[in-house]
Amino acid sequence: MPIIAIRGLKKSYASGNEKVDALKGVDLAIEAGEFVTIMGKSGSGKSTLLSILGGMNHPTAGEVEMAGVNLYQLPGEKLADFRARHLGFVFQSFHLIPFLTALENVMLPLAIVKMKKAAKREAAHKALERVGLGGKVDRLPNQLSGGEQERVAIARAIVTNPHILLADEPTGNLDTSTSEEVMALFRELNEAGQTVVMVTHNPENGAYSDRTIQIRDGVVV
Ligand SMILES: Nc1ncnc2c1ncn2[C@@H]1O[C@H](COP(=O)(O)OP(=O)(O)OP(=O)(O)O)[C@@H](O)[C@H]1O
Ligand SMILES: [Mg+2]
Repeated sequence: MPIIAIRGLKKSYASGNEKVDALKGVDLAIEAGEFVTIMGKSGSGKSTLLSILGGMNHPTAGEVEMAGVNLYQLPGEKLADFRARHLGFVFQSFHLIPFLTALENVMLPLAIVKMKKAAKREAAHKALERVGLGGKVDRLPNQLSGGEQERVAIARAIVTNPHILLADEPTGNLDTSTSEEVMALFRELNEAGQTVVMVTHNPENGAYSDRTIQIRDGVVV
């Protein structure tokens, strides 16, 4: 059984008098342990698909089944709980809180987890070590390079040890060599057991994944 199964997924947005059909019927199955990249032109629906997978964007039609659970049939608080336990999300622009240190940023997803404060600090420390930032845990985001900020965002996504890691354009703002480092890190996390679904513009990133899915005008081609 795939860990992610999407059936007949549609998403329309209303903007003013206009209706935008961002996804027009997507079927997709992703196996546990796979590393999948999603590619397609700007506006093709990639972020829409990923945010729906992340439980953050209700589809207009269709189903998202994750780890055997029909995501959007869960009541609100159960959905939040499912997200906290199973999903890690790395956003298009890192979304770090500027006045919190790297360690505090990484601790954020643990806020709703029942754990002692000291254990949370330790988990965040470990996650930062895993991304190679064990020596910079007390820095504020603006005291870190772009690649380091990205790695803090990745540490934050993995601090809960999620089964599924979703990343939207994680190397979009990085130079080539930093981008390669970040991709190697995702590969490493994948090899350690995490299922990775990543949106990317860069065809070279596809080389790190097991499979590339092309999306065009809201459909998988
Ligand atoms: N909240 C929204 N309201 C209205 N339209 C939206 C909204 N979000 C996305 N869209 C539209 O849906 C379509 C798909 O957008 P989406 O963000 O999924 O594209 P994308 O493939 O991620 O693009 P990019 O590569 O530029 O990030 C676009 O036409 C976009 O303008
Ligand atoms: Mg996008």
